[in-house]
Amino acid sequence: MKFEHRCSVYLVLAASYCLLFSFFGSGKECAKATNANQTLHKLINTLPADKFVLESPSMNYATTYRIVFLVISAPYERDERDEIRSTWTARGNSQLRMMDDALVIFVLGRSPFVAEEALEHHDILQTDVEDTYRNMVYKIEVAFRWVQANVKSEFVVKVDSDTVIHVDRLSDQLRLLDQRGSSHWMACFHNTNSRPIRDTCHSWYISNEDFAPSTIPNYCLGPGYVLKRSSFERIVDKMGSVKIFEVEDAFFTGVVAKDLVDLFCVAELIVPRYTDYSDCSSGSPSLSVLNTHFQFNGSKSRKNLTAAYERLKEPRCHNVLTRLFYRYDYCR
Ligand SMILES: *[C@@H]1O[C@H](CO)[C@@H](O)[C@H](O)[C@H]1NC(C)=O
Ligand SMILES: *[C@@H]1O[C@H](CO)[C@@H](O)[C@H](O)[C@H]1NC(C)=O
Ligand SMILES: *[C@@H]1O[C@H](CO)[C@@H](O)[C@H](O)[C@H]1NC(C)=O
Repeated sequence: MKFEHRCSVYLVLAASYCLLFSFFGSGKECAKATNANQTLHKLINTLPADKFVLESPSMNYATTYRIVFLVISAPYERDERDEIRSTWTARGNSQLRMMDDALVIFVLGRSPFVAEEALEHHDILQTDVEDTYRNMVYKIEVAFRWVQANVKSEFVVKVDSDTVIHVDRLSDQLRLLDQRGSSHWMACFHNTNSRPIRDTCHSWYISNEDFAPSTIPNYCLGPGYVLKRSSFERIVDKMGSVKIFEVEDAFFTGVVAKDLVDLFCVAELIVPRYTDYSDCSSGSPSLSVLNTHFQFNGSKSRKNLTAAYERLKEPRCHNVLTRLFYRYDYCR
């Protein structure tokens, strides 16, 4: 009796859940992704570079920066930007920043709430592009063209706003990579044998019309990639003549960069997971970029960039066991 009673309670619960779900759940259709906006793509690549720029950062036009960081951010992520300003981009936290040798630019889309912050910090490049996830690729195009026209640098680094960087260590790693003898290279953790997602409900949907092939050339994972300046130039010069699709990493570093730029997969530059461990075979840790996407901290969904940065500053060195356990941190 008791058992049956319980069962029926569960049944009723399940049924009402189903009812509720059919009301709100299935009513909530996916935000159907459409074809990319080739018109916008064309305009961004043909009009003058500042045509799509609403706010630009202050900088020294005469300097050749060692690294320009483009941090892709959404207008509502003010807290994340402030956390970044007080951690990895703070002047006291790196030689490069102290020497004004690293430029950090937050790349945002349209919003009425950004002007004040831009005025306060002078580190925002606000693009005249509606700020949606699918529009990230256009924001980056605008930023790339603007950097090409306005900023001299040895490297351009694209990162997401949930990423922390050890700026000086990264610079050292880039020096080592530059000794590999390639004139045009980019470095990242890469994705291989990837297929375009044809499901319109998926945020990485790519239509047949925008990109017909069934595989995507190997590309850098979006949380962070480094472009040597000459590679950056090649990508920016080429991108306007390639049909765009709205998955930025696969587009810029896969389809556009193919045959133009050597891809160095360097897991130690940016591991695809949240980690405590770094390779130390050169005598000191080499881990330079840490993405907090997989940082689980209880039920908190908000990533703690400060904690991640503390971890990145002093990672533990891999030993035989951790190397085995974290083997998926390594490039295949
Ligand atoms: C594509 O971009 C152009 C230029 O910004 C805009 O006028 C047009 O409405 C956009 N098309 C779609 C389908 O969003
Ligand atoms: C983030 O981490 C820092 C350093 O570990 C800690 O002091 C702070 O309380 C954390 N913030 C949140 C919101 O959890
Ligand atoms: C997790 O949250 C606690 C409490 O806010 C904080 O002290 C700690 O630093 C966080 N750890 C990480 C890895 O973010």
